[in-house]
Amino acid sequence: MAEISCDDRIPDNIVRLSIKDPQAVQSAYECGKLVILEDARIDADYAFLSSIPSPKAAHPGREKFCLARQERWKGHDRREAVWHKFETGPFQGDPEGYARFQREVKSVNGQMNALVEHLFGSLPFRTRSITWKFQRITGENLHIDNLQGCQKLAQIRLFANLHTAPRVWGIAKHWRAYASRLFETASLEEVLHDYYQFNTRLSVAAFGYSHHTTDDPRHVVTFNPGEVWLANSAIVAHQVRSGDLLTIAHYEYPYKGYVRKTEALPALIRQLGVEKLGYLGYHQKVLSLKLDPRRMGIG
Ligand SMILES: [Fe+2]
Repeated sequence: MAEISCDDRIPDNIVRLSIKDPQAVQSAYECGKLVILEDARIDADYAFLSSIPSPKAAHPGREKFCLARQERWKGHDRREAVWHKFETGPFQGDPEGYARFQREVKSVNGQMNALVEHLFGSLPFRTRSITWKFQRITGENLHIDNLQGCQKLAQIRLFANLHTAPRVWGIAKHWRAYASRLFETASLEEVLHDYYQFNTRLSVAAFGYSHHTTDDPRHVVTFNPGEVWLANSAIVAHQVRSGDLLTIAHYEYPYKGYVRKTEALPALIRQLGVEKLGYLGYHQKVLSLKLDPRRMGIG
């Protein structure tokens, strides 16, 4: 079971929930809580998986691989090239090891997909991806994610530690606390219409760049092998303090799928604009009419 060390200077935003209550999980997730699934565990051969060195990545430090089930592929595609990196990298000359790795990926991905479907199966998913991260992280700065596609789509982000070593995270405050405090000094009014840029600017203003270190208070959570958790990383500040092999299921869906619609990123930004300016900015009005200001040449 995950160990939690709470910092009582900030709100407690970590909950342990059962997969028997999917509604509670979705609601807590949307509100930016860190959700630890107390009765879910990914079953895998952690020792074997932990022994696999990462293939070389195009950009060192970004050892992220989208490993889908191979048998579903038709012809050559990008994912086939990803598998090829493993076959010709860590499993060069070891076909048995490679086959074992494929079986593990198939099993783990199946378990991850089943969990997301069980918890959020009624959502109209637009994309379904599972990424394996072979990154040894020894500390990163607190940050708020700027997720590609966040202008139109929310993401379910479900994580599992696949390494024999624990994974340690820091969890700080909700997006709202930083956005409200820094609205004027970070000139956030200028990016109210662009959610990706908004989160980029907000995160840098709140914590500095990724190579910086902030001493803001945070809770610290230690996840053991196989443990599963969810974090809406675009609206809660977080960091990896240490960790190795991780898998993430990230499924995209329209914001209208939210149960707590006022907690969605576009709604949070809209509320903030109204609270700070007393009215919706012009770009926000355009967005609320579902028009894209950039296509209209005014973004
Ligand atoms: Fe992140």
